[in-house]
Amino acid sequence: MADFLQIVRDKHTITVYNKDMIVERAEHIVDFHTHVLPGIDDGSRDLTETRGLLQEESQQNVDCVIATPHFYADRFSVEEFLKRRQRALQSVLDDSKITAVGRPSLCVGAEVYFFPGMGRAEKLRSLCIEGTDVILIEMPFVQWTEDVLREVREVISRQKLQVVLAHVERYPQFQKDQRIWRQVMDLPLTIQMNGGSFIKDRRRRRMCLQLLREHERALLGSDCHNLSSRVPNLEEARRVIAKKLGDGVLERIDQIARELLKGATEMMLEQDDETS
Ligand SMILES: [Fe+2]
Repeated sequence: MADFLQIVRDKHTITVYNKDMIVERAEHIVDFHTHVLPGIDDGSRDLTETRGLLQEESQQNVDCVIATPHFYADRFSVEEFLKRRQRALQSVLDDSKITAVGRPSLCVGAEVYFFPGMGRAEKLRSLCIEGTDVILIEMPFVQWTEDVLREVREVISRQKLQVVLAHVERYPQFQKDQRIWRQVMDLPLTIQMNGGSFIKDRRRRRMCLQLLREHERALLGSDCHNLSSRVPNLEEARRVIAKKLGDGVLERIDQIARELLKGATEMMLEQDDETS
């Protein structure tokens, strides 16, 4: 049997083939934070852009993309947001040119901007990644207070949700007083960092690498919005992480993503040769 197995190492992906069939992929790459759904926020403008974004994700070996459009409690009701998100999602699933992309699969969630009262907000759960109790929270870009800490704590303990803090590397600059920051970071939650922060400037890269060393539970997201200035970039970010911290850290990231996505509603964009 072993004679048929072929192991292909492609950058950080190890794929095992038995003849032409993939029998095992050692890596399962998830882009945990994206704005790929068309026309719903400041991300993808239309289906053409969405198509391009998913194509790019696919080329970077991303297996699963979580669509996390912005949710602002002061702009839309939860119901209205979910309706708009469903419309955008359906347009993607109905687009035959997108189905030709083949990979990645798609899950939907939201990037929920922090709001006072979220710790007790009844409908918060419906903003989780579909099929899970995982919520992506964008924290305020100001000094965090005791109230902020209390709300996040309540989302975890009262609402019993698994919190992922979006692009955590963007907040420290606002925390002149680091006490609350430290307490938030000590909560049982997962932090997410943006791919671009490992690529662009050196100071931010250093900070992100340090966060990855200090925090067991960390995830990556591209936070891609378009194909020009905020692009899918996990391939390059993962290359930097592997080089600086070793493959083990990437394996840990993939493992945590897999664990959080257990039960998630994953939509497959099936291969359709006629439309490719
Ligand atoms: Fe975002």
